[in-house]
Amino acid sequence: MATLPGAVHAVRYDRYGPPEVLRVVAVPRPVPDRGEVLVEVHGSGVGGGEPAIRQGRLRRVLRNRLPQGVGVDFAGRVVGVGEGVNGLATGDAVWGLMEHLAFGSTAEFVAVSAARVSLAPSGVDLVEAAALPSVGTTAVAALVHRAGIRAGERLLVRGAGGGVGTVAVQLGAALGAQVTALTGSRSVDLVRELGAQVVLDHRTTRPSDIEPVDVVLDLVGTDLAAYRRRLTDRGRLVALAVDPVRPLRAGLAIAWNGAVRRGRFLTFSNDPSPEHIMQLAGYVEDGTIRPVIDSVVALDETAEAHRRLERGGVRGRIVVDVRHRGRAKRPRPPTAGGSTNP
Ligand SMILES: NC(=O)c1ccc[n+]([C@@H]2O[C@H](COP(=O)([O-])OP(=O)(O)OC[C@H]3O[C@@H](n4cnc5c(N)ncnc54)[C@H](OP(=O)(O)O)[C@@H]3O)[C@@H](O)[C@H]2O)c1
Repeated sequence: MATLPGAVHAVRYDRYGPPEVLRVVAVPRPVPDRGEVLVEVHGSGVGGGEPAIRQGRLRRVLRNRLPQGVGVDFAGRVVGVGEGVNGLATGDAVWGLMEHLAFGSTAEFVAVSAARVSLAPSGVDLVEAAALPSVGTTAVAALVHRAGIRAGERLLVRGAGGGVGTVAVQLGAALGAQVTALTGSRSVDLVRELGAQVVLDHRTTRPSDIEPVDVVLDLVGTDLAAYRRRLTDRGRLVALAVDPVRPLRAGLAIAWNGAVRRGRFLTFSNDPSPEHIMQLAGYVEDGTIRPVIDSVVALDETAEAHRRLERGGVRGRIVVDVRHRGRAKRPRPPTAGGSTNP
């Protein structure tokens, strides 16, 4: 990615540490290279796994160099098109993700490969749409492409009240699965409203309390062996989270299980194709999936968003309204995105 003088703003950190390391800084305005588009970002999602990365817990796994940006997904308007890009034009309302394992969408502008971008779903506000690209493509990949979930199967979503979980509950229910959700107490009503038939508080539920299920979608990363034992004979466990307290050990255990229990223990690092980003837009347009927004914060409140994720109890996703600075917009109750693209 080339750069030109002319400052724009982005959230960065130049050392690992508490949320206070996140600062809004002036950076050169990016210029799209060949195959890239320049997007003026309206909204950027705040990932549930990002506080652990900012703390440096995963530095030996990810090997990211400092300074680092934050944010994987974005929605906004195309304001520049590099050579060789077809199918996207200046003015298009788009959404997408940064390159695989890269961060930096919490910024006024991003230049990214056109393969990571598609037209945004119509009928959804571009700030609210930013809640979905990474968690939505992850949930679709987990349930549809990897687990191949079928109508009538029993699905357990562990971590159901968060970003990935609130999409997985909606998708699982729409595909005809019987959904059991393990979630924090603040999200119980929300998760039931999204389509879960049984909702259990994770603080008072043991793995042995769970009836056998055909698919476990794990978004927590601990106690995987205990949840694997809740699977039926044809069951599959999709393990997407790494225990942040022991990331190396947990990552190795997940990789080992994936290798020796093929077909039954599944794991992946989300890296969606352009078709999968478009498939997600289709699910939003046909009403299968809606963004679940915990709250919308201003660019200079990204650190507060990380603090809230660390405290727990966030319902759905926090989204940064990148064009907004100053005091927080009043948090709204979790809701579906509804208004048309501005
Ligand atoms: N492999 C991949 O490609 C991929 C892609 C996306 C995300 N991920 C990972 O998946 C995880 C979830 O991501 P996210 O964005 O959905 O995070 P999130 O929004 O923070 O959601 C996590 C949810 O888990 C709940 N939770 C915490 N402890 C729990 C427990 N013991 N049992 C059941 N639920 C529990 C939390 O509820 P309370 O806060 O109310 O306790 C929260 O609602 C992260 O580790 C992330 O890094 C992996």
